[in-house]
Amino acid sequence: MRIRTIEDYHEAYKDSIEDPKTFWAAIAQEFRWKKPWTKVLDWSFDDYNVKWFRNGKLNITENCLDRHAENKPNHPALIWEPNDPEDEPEIITYKVLLDRVCRFANVLKKHGVTKGDRVCIYMPMIPELAVAVLACARIGAIHSVIFGGFSAQSISDRINDSQCELVVTTDGAVRGAKNIPMKETVDDALVACPSVKKVIVATHTRTPVSMIKGRDYWWESEVKHVEAECPAEEMDSEDPLFILYTSGSTGKPKGVVHTCGGYMVFTSYTFENVFQYHPGDVFFCTADVGWITGHSYLVYGPLLSGAITVMFEGIPTYPDAGRLWDIVDRHKVNILYTAPTAIRSLMGFGLEYLEGKDLSSLKVLGSVGEPINEEAWHWYNDHIGKGKCPIVDTWWQTETGGIMISPLAGITKTKPSYATLPLPGVQLELVDENGSTIEGNGVNGNLCITYPWPSIIRTTWGDHERCKSTYFSTYPGKYFTGDGCMRDEDGYYRITGRVDDVLNVSGHRIGTAEVENAINSHTGVVESAVVGYPHDVKGQGVHAFVICEEPQDEDSMMKRDILMTVSRIIGPIAKPDKIQIVSGLPKTRSGKIMRRILRKIAEGEYNNLGDTSTLLDPGVVDEIVKGAKEL
Ligand code: PRX
Repeated sequence: MRIRTIEDYHEAYKDSIEDPKTFWAAIAQEFRWKKPWTKVLDWSFDDYNVKWFRNGKLNITENCLDRHAENKPNHPALIWEPNDPEDEPEIITYKVLLDRVCRFANVLKKHGVTKGDRVCIYMPMIPELAVAVLACARIGAIHSVIFGGFSAQSISDRINDSQCELVVTTDGAVRGAKNIPMKETVDDALVACPSVKKVIVATHTRTPVSMIKGRDYWWESEVKHVEAECPAEEMDSEDPLFILYTSGSTGKPKGVVHTCGGYMVFTSYTFENVFQYHPGDVFFCTADVGWITGHSYLVYGPLLSGAITVMFEGIPTYPDAGRLWDIVDRHKVNILYTAPTAIRSLMGFGLEYLEGKDLSSLKVLGSVGEPINEEAWHWYNDHIGKGKCPIVDTWWQTETGGIMISPLAGITKTKPSYATLPLPGVQLELVDENGSTIEGNGVNGNLCITYPWPSIIRTTWGDHERCKSTYFSTYPGKYFTGDGCMRDEDGYYRITGRVDDVLNVSGHRIGTAEVENAINSHTGVVESAVVGYPHDVKGQGVHAFVICEEPQDEDSMMKRDILMTVSRIIGPIAKPDKIQIVSGLPKTRSGKIMRRILRKIAEGEYNNLGDTSTLLDPGVVDEIVKGAKEL
């Protein structure tokens, strides 16, 4: 299963295209199945339906935990680095992790959770989060992890969409110097969530919380009263493993569904090959488990491969901008996987934060979530990797489950800002606006995938039509990624960014329509339009153009209130960086907002707005340009 040379890669790629079923079956064979599959793959991209390893039975946690707990019980599985560097890190072995997962799985069972039930997890980055995720998988409950930066409203929308029965949370959280009231936010959310019967609260910050009799239970006391053993539920390869909500072009986030068998095979395969993980290496993924990167490359991928995975509770700038380098030094991290936004932010603090940090353990660096600009790439390469660590720029999506385009560390020749080549099993195609395939090299187009890979999105929870129309209808017969992409003269791929109304702010995916809905719900707002613009640190910033009911005496008050509204409705991560109050928006005669013009204005390209003569009121553009310059 391990690719070691570029020749191996080309051979594996060729095999994977010529005979994908044999290729993936050979890889799947290496896992522990309770019953073998009877057919490798059934699929159609026309009437979307994909099923891998049909009738195969397994439990992913046996593959993540039991296998390793049997072979190497005292080998570290998870290293937890607390927010406060003065606090002790925790090292959890495979045996202990299995034990903790089984106990918590029994707690879930005791509270009535059974196979197929949905469990919402809203927690900070502490070991209990990984335990809760795996405990759900142990008993076949479907986890829906919600990132800790989402508001009560966002939590309840997600809980209601998938009808979760139980919520796992903590009393509070700490991120840097900030205290975050987790349970209080959950309490606010649950006012509107009749499906939730139970809440399990792990003690973390000792923040005072309300505990409702018959509904709310303390994690610590619950785990004391259950067995330490819990048989792994037999799951069908195609049973859902989890739901993860992500933003799209519409106002409502969709629940991306991944299933047990294919997700297991693909995340482990890509983890080992992209990062060239060697047994004993310490792997540090800085992503939150609330996002797909945390699911696939902090929890599942590394544990499936018996790796040592580092989980960091805090933020890269606390107590200072040297924190990530302290962690690398302290835990002798060999592989670091982070986001360009973190690199750019740390770059801005200067090299003094690297002084005295021993980074010599590093062998491989990874980047994920957004395009990495050349300057950040070079800084990462020169100052963190000291020129000796290959950088893997990994392109993928919540919907793809795992890495799709990436160099293999030390094997594929890298090129700054290029994700380089597709992984084995990944069949890419660039298409033009009409859906025609663009052949050859030195071309640009929209990125599609033409053949299923094991961890492809199976459906959007509760709405299969939405899955079909979002991903498989723009270019019939193909999965459309929503990304623009260039294939250069060498056949290397470079992602140029989203071509739809999805923004990528600090590596977080945010739908413009969602932000607009939130702004429009503010009293006094008539209409708004949200676009992205290049931001030095965040990659993209959010620029909101807002029409108010009445002229504002004090713009700043209105803007502050709008920010608060967005924070309440979506969460602080979606707060616009710029709010511009305008008297009108550039619209066509049919009433469509010309976002192209707004994007240009937000980008500062005032002299390159294109044809504005077809607008209902061309004059409005001058006013908006004037206002934008004054922001
Ligand atoms: O636009 C691409 C960008 O992030 C989008 C997927 O976002 P999400 O589902 O939140 O998953 C992020 C983590 C996998 C993609 O459509 N993106 C992701 N990785 C890269 C990237 N853009 C450029 N280069 C990357 N390496």
